[in-house]
Amino acid sequence: MSTAELRSWLRTPAVKSFPYGAVVREYHGVGKHFVAPELLELLAEVRDMLPELSGPWPHVQTLASFLSTALDKPDKRYDYPTYLALSLLQLPGPDDPVEQAPFARTRCDRLTAQLVCDALGFELSALDGRTTLLPLLRPDPTAVGKRFRHGMRVIRPALQRMALDAGLTATDPGDLARQACAAVYGDMSYAERRAVELSILPVYTMHDEYLFLRVLQAFETTFSLLSTQIRGAIAALDEGEIERAVHFVTSCETALRESAPLFSMLATMQIEAFRTFREFTEGASAIQSRNYKLVESLCRKPDSDRVDSPAYHSVPDVRTRVLGSQPTLDEAYSRLCDSDVVAGDALKPLAEAMNAFERALLRWRQTHYRLAVRMLGEASGTGYTEGTPYLAAVRDIPVFRANEKTGAP
Ligand code: HEM
Repeated sequence: MSTAELRSWLRTPAVKSFPYGAVVREYHGVGKHFVAPELLELLAEVRDMLPELSGPWPHVQTLASFLSTALDKPDKRYDYPTYLALSLLQLPGPDDPVEQAPFARTRCDRLTAQLVCDALGFELSALDGRTTLLPLLRPDPTAVGKRFRHGMRVIRPALQRMALDAGLTATDPGDLARQACAAVYGDMSYAERRAVELSILPVYTMHDEYLFLRVLQAFETTFSLLSTQIRGAIAALDEGEIERAVHFVTSCETALRESAPLFSMLATMQIEAFRTFREFTEGASAIQSRNYKLVESLCRKPDSDRVDSPAYHSVPDVRTRVLGSQPTLDEAYSRLCDSDVVAGDALKPLAEAMNAFERALLRWRQTHYRLAVRMLGEASGTGYTEGTPYLAAVRDIPVFRANEKTGAP
């Protein structure tokens, strides 16, 4: 019982020996929404002690992030970033030096592979009867088979880039997923394993919420990569390096295209399961996704009615950036078009790359909309919008304006 272990730890607290396993087990047993007040109080006590706790800084930081996500509900801070435990995943952020853009893909490849494999690993454990975790409404084997197939489609390109695909020889989807999981787990550092283990705190005990969380986290990873690479493209254009900018924008299109089967994977979620655990996710909506809004607003400054709508009021710090002087790819491209420094033809590859990315993002919105309609039916959104009518209205918002102006292909 975790409170006993936690009480014992509190007698001689050391960050490195925090009983994560026992605490997480307790959360998984009932769901984050139903954790016993006694445990929550003890965890709050641990949080109060954080400034005095000794131990290596990364361990202190992990514990602080874990407590922040574990205590979001009693603190009444629960929202999309805490639901997804994003602080534990340490995604690339908008304040990272732009010079790091080329390394973001490596980080995001690793994380995507780890998150998706963890989801597949959970499906395998449930299929084999090796876990009692989140026991409600286990999916049927056909749905699980689809999860294996779509999951593998998502991670295969990343596994190739990571040189982890050599042992993927099985033809049966489940066996292939097993091989991928073994390769990815074997390649993970201690810190990566810990982050993956701690970043899954479902609100309830429905099997499919595991998939839901991992898919959202994997998409967030992609968005963080996109926003980093768009910043890279803007910086490249500022220095007149058009080829480099084309490289970044093309990488964005590739990343978004590779992530698309995540939607197919999520489409296997049982509607009944979703509607049940959704009762306890009140307060968390992906409209609060900073990474998505960063992508949108780095492409082009959103129109003022959108900036003044829940779309941006739900992400206040991104809104501040938008109202400040956040540069955009659209402006950087427009400036080049208007200047006589670069010949029109030299910009063609960039216009094409931007168009390809725009198409990929519009496809993303359309697929998301269709999935939302399927899962929600007539139900409204998470309290922020009227739900799918909002998505129908925003799905065609232009990603760029400059291409329209120049009539590029
Ligand atoms: C069961 C599947 C899903 C349903 C039913 C759903 C539903 C919705 C709804 C109704 C909204 C409007 C905001 C609100 O009222 O809460 C929304 C917004 C959004 N969703 Fe989803 N969603 C689903 C999956 C996903 C996934 C997998 C992602 C990937 C991260 C995602 C990302 C977003 C984003 C970024 C927004 C904000 C869009 C904007 O403000 O323009 N959603 N979703």
